[in-house]
Amino acid sequence: MKKQPQPLLVTKAALPPFEVYSGYLKQIWESHHLTNFGPLALEFERKLQDYCHASNAFYVCNGTMALRIAIRALELNGSEVITTPFSYVATTSSLVWEHCQPIFVDIETNQLSIDAERIEAAITPKTKAIMATHVFGYPCAVDRIKNIAQKYGLKVIYDAAHAFGVTYNEQPLVNYGDISTLSFHATKLFHTVEGGAIVCSDKAVGERVSYMRNFGHDGPEAFLGMGINGKNSEFHAAMGLSLWPMRDEIVRKRLSVCEAYSTIFGSCASVTRPVLPKGAKHNGSYYPVIFESEAILLKIRERLQEFNVFTRRYFYPSLSSLPYVKKQQTPIADSVASRILCLPVFADMEPALATEIACEIVASLKD
Ligand SMILES: Cc1ncc(COP(=O)(O)O)c(C=O)c1O
Repeated sequence: MKKQPQPLLVTKAALPPFEVYSGYLKQIWESHHLTNFGPLALEFERKLQDYCHASNAFYVCNGTMALRIAIRALELNGSEVITTPFSYVATTSSLVWEHCQPIFVDIETNQLSIDAERIEAAITPKTKAIMATHVFGYPCAVDRIKNIAQKYGLKVIYDAAHAFGVTYNEQPLVNYGDISTLSFHATKLFHTVEGGAIVCSDKAVGERVSYMRNFGHDGPEAFLGMGINGKNSEFHAAMGLSLWPMRDEIVRKRLSVCEAYSTIFGSCASVTRPVLPKGAKHNGSYYPVIFESEAILLKIRERLQEFNVFTRRYFYPSLSSLPYVKKQQTPIADSVASRILCLPVFADMEPALATEIACEIVASLKD
């Protein structure tokens, strides 16, 4: 392949036309309303709520804060929470930060999510919840997890940071579980520079989330309970509103890049890929490939760098190896984490470039 004239990174943030964003900036300048639930944040939140078909969608300052508030709103403090060892570090660190003990259950190898068949064996009298990640936007076994949660009276939080725009059985995936959280960080397919959301349907949980993300306020002079600064600004909401009309197009373009990769890897037995379960529609959020060994991964990563193409080891190392969690055995996650690489995918990327990268990888695997 040809060397890229500019470094090709694993992602490139989508940006709206400059005039559209500056139109919102003009509104902010005219109103002097910069933050604290201004008109743009409220408008963005309404759109989000409709899009998620949810009774509550709260726009917050980032996906990590969304997780922390979700844990608080479900009153999990001090409990054991069954979780996945294969996700971004924020999934585990939010639990520890909120004084929960993460109990890792190993993953399955189709969607790379927590293996629902192993969850029951990890439940103890201290277990209060399951926190799973729809990693790379591939849905967890949501029906099976719901049955287990009902049987044992557990809460379910889905870290849906990668799942904006994913549907499962015609429903937005964020509608599953007691709470789903989203991230709108600039690296995500749809973003507000920094940002996140908490989606839930239960009214009482929604009320707790609502005051918790605003310092616990109940009006200017009263407090319902303890809260934190979880709100987001008008400038961030303006980015969300500017990108809003582009969201389906972003997904469509990313999916065509993913398809270009898959056409080449489809006939390469030494590259494996997560599988989309029946009934799910993907969003093209990431393009992970799994090699047969870590040594091969390192060789491919180095080879692509020679062409100015930069990949990322999402997610490495597995979270059960973090220095602040109790040592636990998760051999499948450890193995996948050591062999998985995410390839560049973003809306502006030409599918032909994905084809070139995939061909280069396949050729290097034969060397
Ligand atoms: C799975 C997962 N959970 C949580 C987060 C945290 O989101 P944020 O960066 O918006 O705090 C991220 C990404 O950054 C993520 O990938």
